Amino acid sequence: MNAPKPFLVTTPIYYPNDVPHIGHAYTSVAADFVARYHRQRGEEVLFLTGTDEHGQKLQRAAEAQGTTPQDWVDAMEPKWREVWDRLEISYDDYIRTTQPRHEEVVKQILQRVYENGQDDIYKGSYEGLYCVSCEAYYTEDELKEGNLCPVHDRPVEFLKQENYFFRLSAYADRLLEHYAAHPEAIEPESRRNEVLSLIRGGLQDFSISRTSFDWGVPLPWDPDHVCYVWFDALTNYLTGAGYGSDPERFDRTWPANIHFVGKDIVRFHAVYWPAMLMAAGLELPEQVWAHGHLLVAGEKMSKTKLTGIHPFELTDHFGVDAYRYYFMREIAFGQDGSFSWESMTDRYGADLANGLGNLASRVLAMLASNYEGVVPDPGADGAAHARTLPGLADDVARRYDEAMVQVALSGALAAAWELVDAANKYLVEQEPWVVAKDPARADELAGILYASAETLRILAVLIAPIMPGTAERLWEQLGMTTPLAEQRLPEAARWGGLEPGTTTTKGESLFPRLDG
Ligand code: MSP
Repeated sequence: MNAPKPFLVTTPIYYPNDVPHIGHAYTSVAADFVARYHRQRGEEVLFLTGTDEHGQKLQRAAEAQGTTPQDWVDAMEPKWREVWDRLEISYDDYIRTTQPRHEEVVKQILQRVYENGQDDIYKGSYEGLYCVSCEAYYTEDELKEGNLCPVHDRPVEFLKQENYFFRLSAYADRLLEHYAAHPEAIEPESRRNEVLSLIRGGLQDFSISRTSFDWGVPLPWDPDHVCYVWFDALTNYLTGAGYGSDPERFDRTWPANIHFVGKDIVRFHAVYWPAMLMAAGLELPEQVWAHGHLLVAGEKMSKTKLTGIHPFELTDHFGVDAYRYYFMREIAFGQDGSFSWESMTDRYGADLANGLGNLASRVLAMLASNYEGVVPDPGADGAAHARTLPGLADDVARRYDEAMVQVALSGALAAAWELVDAANKYLVEQEPWVVAKDPARADELAGILYASAETLRILAVLIAPIMPGTAERLWEQLGMTTPLAEQRLPEAARWGGLEPGTTTTKGESLFPRLDG
């Protein structure tokens, strides 16, 4: 029997010419949220990330530091991994484009396309206006104010090169056919429309080699040329899936289910990349999901513009889980958004400390004071005392699932927080602290506390992919003995999973008061 295909999800591989900022982390947190969710559904997941270490931009960054590109990327790459580790990004493989295993795949793909019998790689010359930061040519009407790169606001350079070209122009019709047959292949729709009009506007061949510098993978048939950094970088997805090193795993794993990218690099992923794959005779990714940008003063946050905020500046204050939650909840996935210290503080207070945190501490405190922490049996009237909570929990879990499958990340969290709010409201209305004073109402108290503890258990399961540390702590406080990591959706979110008799503990509050 063949093992099912793993769910392959990727982030872009980042340029380690500088340290990460919260814009880069935005992509990685989103991909991690989705990867963890799919693991929770019991799927095998392959989650890839890495660093894009070749190209002129890297070479120049190294020169500016008076060092070699290899020493520079070796010094920078750990600063990226350090951030991913702190943010609990649960990647399964990390591809550095300078790894021999990857360089080997780049050479194999180049050779495969070179020899595909369609003359898809040919020698020619090209001159034009080039942005080193994008590593791409622009036409004059794409530029801002005549000579500025539309992404980086930096002057483009005139560059003339004799290069090898990839015959992208031959793929326009096939790309259009593919996207007509697979409307879900580019999300959101605005990006899909943008890509379609780009293709309809006519595609130009692009050069896939450079001779002006040597920091890259040499072309196998003409080593005076190094491979264009985007051709090299996109190929990382194949390296991670086992192309060349483990054909059996590759066959089982490819194609990618979701490539997460920022909207600035959608054309590389939704035009160049599928054409390269077609030329190599490989399957196309199922979906490219292009999210919006984090903006500062209305512009894309960027190191080049000195607007980058390092993730640790926020995690040191708010904690890792609050950080992860905030960005995924605050900005509708696919749209641009702004970060502000005020809005993060507000969400921390409303959704986390006073929302989920308060719910957990009230319920656990009441279990402690009334039942020595032991979850009571809700008894025959349990369902009546639970009121609307079981129905709502079921409905929320269903809507959360639907949203996650559609990568409506903010919507999924909004659904989960309906349950948080409803449970807090339930406690206010049921007043278990009043009920507790009347021995004749013991059944009612048991019913209320069981229902609210069970709601917490379901919430721990639902928040596990976005707030893994908090979910674990809550799980432990609830006294659950089966590991949270083994809880499978959708079953684990069904009402009634909490066993009466379980011993809970009122531990540290989930979201401590913020300093200052
Ligand atoms: N190396 C290429 C990707 C190659 S993938 C085969 C690259 N690297 S990058 O470091 O410049 O950017 C990587 C990702 O970070 C992109 O998805 C980009 O959109 C994202 N972000 C960088 N700045 C961002 C914001 N201000 N906001 C949101 N995402 C941003 O491109």
